[in-house]
Amino acid sequence: MSQNFAIVRTPGKTINRGLRIFDRGEVDVDLAREQHEKFCRVLKDIGYNIVVWMSSNDGLPDSVFVEDPAVILGDTLVMTRLARPERRGEEKELEKELQMHFQNIQRITDPGLVEGGDVLVTDDTLYIGLSKRTDIVGINQLSRIAEPLGYNTKTIILPDDRLHLKGEVTYHPDTNTITTTPRLAPEFKNAQQRIIEIPVDDGLGRFGANCISKGNKIITTSECPMAEKILSGYGYEVFPVDLSEFNKIDGAMSCLAKFF
Ligand code: GLY
Repeated sequence: MSQNFAIVRTPGKTINRGLRIFDRGEVDVDLAREQHEKFCRVLKDIGYNIVVWMSSNDGLPDSVFVEDPAVILGDTLVMTRLARPERRGEEKELEKELQMHFQNIQRITDPGLVEGGDVLVTDDTLYIGLSKRTDIVGINQLSRIAEPLGYNTKTIILPDDRLHLKGEVTYHPDTNTITTTPRLAPEFKNAQQRIIEIPVDDGLGRFGANCISKGNKIITTSECPMAEKILSGYGYEVFPVDLSEFNKIDGAMSCLAKFF
């Protein structure tokens, strides 16, 4: 299903206190804001209409990552339940902005945990990462919401040094394509979509398979030049964007927007 609309949120002054698994250096707050503005400009350039641009909340340092507090399944908005207490509260703020756009609102409830970054939604299947942020109770709740809507569900177990499934994989509805790291590619061997593998390294380029597209225009993270090269070879028009400051706090590109 093609998506035209996006929601984003400006990074706050406290983004340098965002959660992280490893110390990858201090976040430069001003640079993060510049990178975010550029990213939003490119989202518009490739054809998205940013219908909601939320203002920052310094009490919620990770709230720029609007991907996590919700999962969107067509007309159904699923509000998730975030694992880390530091992030709780983001759900309510996002729901206020999104609710008018959806007919049906469902929720992941206590004790279930799901973060949107762990949920890859294709037209037919939800691939759900079992991680430190998304647990089996949450996965079962989400499956019970998604299956009556016509989706299959498949769980993918993540190693402890990965935050979210989608750090390594994204779905591109207009070209029916999944971009993934070679490590995760076998998980999609039965998928109906074209699979494009993008080798990544463990530095900031580790999010190279996480890209956002509209038609044959695709935004890649400039920290992974390999992504640009491979995707150009497949005929995409590539728009590299520097997201180094978000990468430092484990944020991949798709964490910065929700699409519907
Ligand atoms: N910094 C993103 C997260 O840990 O949730």
